[in-house]
Amino acid sequence: MHSNRLLSLLVFICIVFSCNTVPPLEAVSPNIIPVPLKQELHNGQFILSSETALQFDDAFKVSANFLKSYITNSSQINLKESNGENTILFIKDTLLSNKEGYTLKILPETITITAATDTGAFYAVQSLRQLLPISLEKGVIKDEYIAIQSLTIEDEPEFVYRGMHLDVGRHFFSVDFIKRYIDALTLLKMNTFHWHLTEDQGWRIEIKKYPKLNDIAAYRKETLIGHYNDEPHQFDGKKYGGYYTQEQIKELVKYANNRKITIIPEIEMPGHSQAAVSAYPELGCTGGQVEVATKWGVFEEIYCTKEETFTFLEDVLDEVLELFPSQYIHIGGDEAPKTRWKTCNHCQERMKAEGLKDEHELQSYFISRMERYLNSKGRQIIGWDEILEGGLAPNATVMSWRGTKGAVEAAKAKHTVINTPTSHSYFDYYQSTNEDEPVAIGGFLPLEKVYGFNPIPKALTKDEQQYVLGAQGNVWTEYMPTEDQVEYMVFPRIMAMSEVVWSSPENKNYADFISRVEVFNKRLDVLDINYANHLYEVEGELLSEKNKLSYQLNTLTKDKTIRYTLDGSEPSITSKVYETPIIINGDMLLKAAVFNTEKQLGRVFEQKLNYHKAVGKDILINVEPHKAYSGSGKKGMINGINGSDNRFGDKEWLGFWGDDLEIIIDLGETMDINSIETRFYNANGQWLYTPKNVLLYFDDEFYMVYYIDYRSEGLIKKMQLDLREPKRVQKIKIKVPSYGTIPEGLQGAGNKAWTFIDEIIVK
Ligand code: ACM
Ligand code: ZN
Repeated sequence: MHSNRLLSLLVFICIVFSCNTVPPLEAVSPNIIPVPLKQELHNGQFILSSETALQFDDAFKVSANFLKSYITNSSQINLKESNGENTILFIKDTLLSNKEGYTLKILPETITITAATDTGAFYAVQSLRQLLPISLEKGVIKDEYIAIQSLTIEDEPEFVYRGMHLDVGRHFFSVDFIKRYIDALTLLKMNTFHWHLTEDQGWRIEIKKYPKLNDIAAYRKETLIGHYNDEPHQFDGKKYGGYYTQEQIKELVKYANNRKITIIPEIEMPGHSQAAVSAYPELGCTGGQVEVATKWGVFEEIYCTKEETFTFLEDVLDEVLELFPSQYIHIGGDEAPKTRWKTCNHCQERMKAEGLKDEHELQSYFISRMERYLNSKGRQIIGWDEILEGGLAPNATVMSWRGTKGAVEAAKAKHTVINTPTSHSYFDYYQSTNEDEPVAIGGFLPLEKVYGFNPIPKALTKDEQQYVLGAQGNVWTEYMPTEDQVEYMVFPRIMAMSEVVWSSPENKNYADFISRVEVFNKRLDVLDINYANHLYEVEGELLSEKNKLSYQLNTLTKDKTIRYTLDGSEPSITSKVYETPIIINGDMLLKAAVFNTEKQLGRVFEQKLNYHKAVGKDILINVEPHKAYSGSGKKGMINGINGSDNRFGDKEWLGFWGDDLEIIIDLGETMDINSIETRFYNANGQWLYTPKNVLLYFDDEFYMVYYIDYRSEGLIKKMQLDLREPKRVQKIKIKVPSYGTIPEGLQGAGNKAWTFIDEIIVK
């Protein structure tokens, strides 16, 4: 007899006669992401084997079949459908108040999954999956039985909308990749895939009635190389594009449906439509030929409000509705410059005829009209928060991205909302300040910040909170040309987002989450997912107490050691172990890394500290930095650490949105100073503008206006004031007026400009 069979017989005998040959598991808490509502360990274990029976009825078809194929496809275990020695049982309990909730009870003889719906049971299966060996993910289990710790999990989601978005317009990804993306959502109990299908740079859905959308709009002649801020713009000269056929889309919708994922398609209007206008120039205001966009940004070639456009869009949506059964259809609405509309006869006549007072109302007319059409087909619309401008369409759901202001306004008007603020859910932002991160659009959104997101804005009353359906991570792909890179930007932030939308706030704990991420990453390894791993990095913080400075090091994961050097050498397994903050009394060059008992785990952290007269002193600012760019706080302006030269999103650059600043540094006693310098970031594409001048005061006395060469080359503009002779002062006041409003014709025109300021160096 084959030894495996012998073992299996042994297991069988053991189960029947309750002997104890299967070694008992060490009872460890499960590491499920997103963390369940309640979990309780019991003694004993369930033995999953080919003697296990799977009992379910049609009500649990999807979840039970998922479990069955998950186990049988990847192991030697074949679940029985009739009686077995032990049983996995699906039980319907229609009294469970949350239709997506479930109970998973694992006892030595039975695994019971109780749920009101197949969807609830499906989530129980996903939890069970995370209790099984990770090698099952790849079908490499040779064993004929698997022992599972006895426990009970009671679980339900916090929000009904748990989404991930993907932009396939800027870059196009394979059908296989979309399936992998859906698989990831499945594992993390997300339920919505927001598929951003049309963009200025490419139209990605086959529309049979308008073949030029696929022949022309799906391809751009070339693509911008490098970052948008790198001037002059250079292009790769390579045709790029593609689209999903209706057959592929049907297959994906079915694939998603079998994983309890709803796909919400987004067909953008009236903006981000240059690709469509390039295929059918008559849809634009000028009728002139334009090309599919080859660089990133916001474009003026938007749909004209003439009748022809509405016919076109209704035809397109007719085909979209055939493919996507979702209750919601996303119709975009964001970033639509009104430049063309202002000088277009059709649009101006439309405004007169409809009694619309400005182009915002014309956009509102546009969106409301499309909403009426979709409502007449039994569907609801979602739009980005710009759809609030000029009046909200009567039944629209608002997706708030420019902060959560839009969500608050919409909820107060009794409209449902989904929160996807740039500050907490834009996974195209940098997740680390490491210099070797792949080029990203900008911004800074580390894992902890995603984790800390609360989709319910504070400004809502209890009653208004019910309008918040949930939240979503957004993945804009300008700077993600490959599938690997999408995964890198998505993981692990999607895991944090899954707890934001699923887990109860009382159960959220970042340190605990991190320990589960460490375990989960092993599953991602088996799944061949290219996740970013910043778990084994060193983080540093300058401490200042009674003008005594020290530098504190930290790392996220438990049971590790930080080792460091101060002489410029690379840290090694024999370097000094960090125990308490390092005392600072001059310039410092620190290098540190995380080690286990055998080897270095993460990259080397390096911190250069330039000691100067203001380091660690008191600082006052009239306004707090904007919470999206508050970095290391106002103290970060005098902590001896410069911001990165190519990244305004790191924590040393502080961002202020439209505020006039008044910064006061108190040196604690009068002393001679010789120079003051600081830097401002100037990335106009991202709405960052260097102020034209700053005003300096010494001990409350006006000293001078310093004019900044804000039009000079480069992203960073310097203020460098060298005093002709030393000045004896205690308090230095710097007034920094905001640049003001972004001028017409530029990215973000009409919005307030951001001011980003770096270290203030006093020598
Ligand atoms: C957006 O990021 N333009 C919705
Ligand atoms: Zn027009």
